Amino acid sequence: MTEAIRAYNDPERARKYHTQRAFDPPRKARMFEVMLDILQALLPSGGKVLELGAGTGDFSKVLLDSGFFSQIQVTDGAEEMLSLARQDLHSEQVTFQLLDFTKPWTAPEPLDAMVSSMALHHAPDKLFTVQQAFQNLRPGGVLLIGDHVAGATPQTHHLIALERARVKQVPAEEVPDWVEQDQEAQARQGNICEPLDVYLSVLQQAGFLHVDCLWRDYWMAVFLAVKPYE
Ligand SMILES: C[S@@+](CC[C@H](N)C(=O)[O-])C[C@H]1O[C@@H](n2cnc3c(N)ncnc32)[C@H](O)[C@@H]1O
Repeated sequence: MTEAIRAYNDPERARKYHTQRAFDPPRKARMFEVMLDILQALLPSGGKVLELGAGTGDFSKVLLDSGFFSQIQVTDGAEEMLSLARQDLHSEQVTFQLLDFTKPWTAPEPLDAMVSSMALHHAPDKLFTVQQAFQNLRPGGVLLIGDHVAGATPQTHHLIALERARVKQVPAEEVPDWVEQDQEAQARQGNICEPLDVYLSVLQQAGFLHVDCLWRDYWMAVFLAVKPYE
């Protein structure tokens, strides 16, 4: 079990994550809108989608409510997170699976789409994780990653940290301490955030086409990658 899975595989932590929903719910909701719009534009017939690191199922719920995909596989490495997703997502279209994206895995049949929300920053080897995604997609299949990214330089990373403090309405005199604590908390959660160019580079190295960052808002970004037809 990875350090990040261990951190989330705790009933109290999972419950807290599920009830608090997100660090910044409006920003995350906007990210989900962008992700759904992209999927609908690229895959008009929907099909089979798998979510990696789905946690308690926030984005899988958006996919289910959209009525757009015929099958949704909700996966996560932490059973305590997945069990809360099971309680919320009731549909014959939805299946659940424990899946550690740092290990090799094979889907029963090739997928039309693979998605992930705020989870791949826990992957120590992002190239390996996206290579696994590549292998499990059908030709023409879509990988869409929404994730927690780092700034490109220490200076821009600091601007991101300041924006996180603004979101939490931290009083000006407490911001330096708050920023330090936020960084420590992220390290404890097993965050390995990388700047945009690392994501773009590993997606290209894995063999994807149309690799792009289609949306970015401080620490959140959405990456698109499409598996070639050959
Ligand atoms: C910040 S939560 C995001 C959950 C959900 N996708 C969301 O948007 O609310 C990160 C999730 O990634 C999962 N995770 C971390 N490392 C993982 C791994 N190696 N394999 C699968 N899931 C992992 C955690 O268990 C946790 O549920």
